[in-house]
Amino acid sequence: MMPVGLPEEAPERSTMGPMTQQPPSVAGDGSEPGNPDWHIVCADLFKIYKVAQLEVVALRGLDLRIKRGEMLALVGASGSGKSTLLNILAGLDLPSAGSVLVDGRDLLTMEEPERVEYRRRQVGFVWQQAGHNLVPYLSAAQNIELPMVLAGRPRQQVRARTTALLEAIGLSARARSRLEQLSGGEQQRVSIGVALANEPPLLLADEPTGELDTRTADQIFDLFAGLNRRFGVTIVIVTHDEGITDRVPRVALIRDGRIATEIFNAAGAPPGGATDVGRREYTVVDRSGRVQIPRELRDAAGLGSHVQMDLQDGRVTIARAPDADP
Ligand SMILES: Nc1ncnc2c1ncn2[C@@H]1O[C@H](COP(=O)(O)OP(=O)(O)O)[C@@H](O)[C@H]1O
Ligand SMILES: [Mg+2]
Repeated sequence: MMPVGLPEEAPERSTMGPMTQQPPSVAGDGSEPGNPDWHIVCADLFKIYKVAQLEVVALRGLDLRIKRGEMLALVGASGSGKSTLLNILAGLDLPSAGSVLVDGRDLLTMEEPERVEYRRRQVGFVWQQAGHNLVPYLSAAQNIELPMVLAGRPRQQVRARTTALLEAIGLSARARSRLEQLSGGEQQRVSIGVALANEPPLLLADEPTGELDTRTADQIFDLFAGLNRRFGVTIVIVTHDEGITDRVPRVALIRDGRIATEIFNAAGAPPGGATDVGRREYTVVDRSGRVQIPRELRDAAGLGSHVQMDLQDGRVTIARAPDADP
């Protein structure tokens, strides 16, 4: 046990051991969301923004389940709803309909004091601009101490945990450097330390590498992976950089406000190793049975607005409807 109250080092990943990762059950039996293995359960989530007279549907019936201790990348084009989902998970915004449970807490019906407590204790957030949650004239160490001091933690504990976090983010040697003396990548490391200061079991990051060069970005992705393995913290990283695909065990592709496709990589692949070993890609079937057929497949098969579905030898085939539309 570490004396400083870091999340205990996960002895092994009980929920997803190497090579055993399976797509989450999509059986759709309503009882399962109560399963304590699930850290996050989004079901049929909708978010509609009203701007003047216009309604923008940012999430349209999104289903997603994430296990405790899992690391997931949420990938998708600009405007597909990634930030909307992350803000909802962070307790910063409310969905318009559907349900979202985090650790069994219903974010929709939560009262305000509970929501404040949720944001303070249950989630850490890393923004695209590292500066967003950092104080430029404080040192790296002081920035990490700040949320703990604000939470009223004992001095001794704050010191010990700050030292441990600086080591975990690889910045022990820069502890006393002021933020403005650090590089962009180093600043982002500090903001990850800040996000983890009060030991949230869930870490959310919205385009954390959006302002970094590729090499630095890869190092940050590897840092997230290391923290996930070491402390068992659940991590959701939003990015539109599909380069992350090979660096995380699970990638959910969001398209038009819904999870369209998921990729599962066998754990244990070397960081950055673009190995295809154990990589499987699945189309998501939502609870109503809807699937999104990727444009390339629709084009290749000449599918229009109507298709013919058939069952053949236990397989469902989707074919162009000859007499429907061009
Ligand atoms: N506060 C807001 N008011 C109105 N529309 C919004 C707001 N936030 C996001 N949107 C719209 O919702 C959709 C999804 O946005 P967002 O979640 O930010 O996408 P992403 O993060 O994937 O780029 C977009 O069409 C965007 O314009
Ligand atoms: Mg965004």
